[in-house]
Amino acid sequence: MAESIDLNDGTSIPQLGFGVFKIDPAETTEAVLRALEIGYRHVDTAEMYGNEREVGEAVRTSGLDREDVYITSKLNNGEHRPDDARRAFDGTLSALGFDTVDLYLIHWPLPTRYDGDFVSTWKVLEEFKADGRARSIGVSNFQVAHLELLAAEADVTPAVNQIELHLYFLNEEVRTYGEARGIATEAWSPIARGDVLDDPVVTGIAERIGRPPSQVVLRWHIQRGSIVFPKSTSPARMRENFEIFDFELEPGEMEQIAGLDRGESGRRGPNPDTFGG
Ligand SMILES: NC(=O)c1ccc[n+]([C@@H]2O[C@H](COP(=O)([O-])OP(=O)(O)OC[C@H]3O[C@@H](n4cnc5c(N)ncnc54)[C@H](OP(=O)(O)O)[C@@H]3O)[C@@H](O)[C@H]2O)c1
Repeated sequence: MAESIDLNDGTSIPQLGFGVFKIDPAETTEAVLRALEIGYRHVDTAEMYGNEREVGEAVRTSGLDREDVYITSKLNNGEHRPDDARRAFDGTLSALGFDTVDLYLIHWPLPTRYDGDFVSTWKVLEEFKADGRARSIGVSNFQVAHLELLAAEADVTPAVNQIELHLYFLNEEVRTYGEARGIATEAWSPIARGDVLDDPVVTGIAERIGRPPSQVVLRWHIQRGSIVFPKSTSPARMRENFEIFDFELEPGEMEQIAGLDRGESGRRGPNPDTFGG
């Protein structure tokens, strides 16, 4: 059973969820339904993914109570201006078909756009939290400098920062900054879209302990306290990714895996300092 992480606003989030980036809308309801059947209770979507409607549909079809499924969505890059953000959030709730989301994030900081102003966008998310339509609010792809600006100018500390983080890119400066300030880290692309699964360090540990490489990698994230939501459209792989709470990696194995970090050269996605959406 997935464990929960306490967030800085008094709520909690299932540490393991299901990501739906790059799942075709036509396949999303089915995929999320399978994930919910397996036991996932946390779904990470975004307006950008084009499948919020189907995520909501899956939750309704599952027969589960809305409160039993943790749902995250994100503000799209073209909508940072305050009135656009308000409209976008209304659109997200209406696409999902729910009155609230559990967590709403600014998808990217976009420091080269909007005159570098993501603070007024963040203040609009603070409104959504104040009116109860977002139980928690957070950011994604924020660097330390971006978080420092929010700390100086905003009222609410982000509950989470969702960042690229996998074995070849530990993103350690951003993660430890969050850890020191109560901002939980969500690791996107936790298995680097499969690319870390045949690393000899991972396969070596996997063979020694008799678990698949995916479980070794996801377990490593869990033991470091990160929140993860691997994406899969295969029920077998969804199940494999879910069964990570009945074993533990030893400190030596944890360290060996962390040693795979390639620093900045291991980054696969865009650099948030320059990405303009
Ligand atoms: N905030 C952001 O900017 C941002 C950016 C990227 C992603 N995300 C979020 O993070 C989630 C996860 O990241 P991601 O989708 O980029 O990558 P990921 O979860 O690291 O990897 C997904 C890929 O790995 C394959 N896979 C999954 N489980 C596997 C297993 N057990 N064995 C072998 N292959 C496996 C999947 O293929 P199959 O489907 O064929 O199984 C898929 O191609 C996304 O869905 C999204 O919610 C956020």
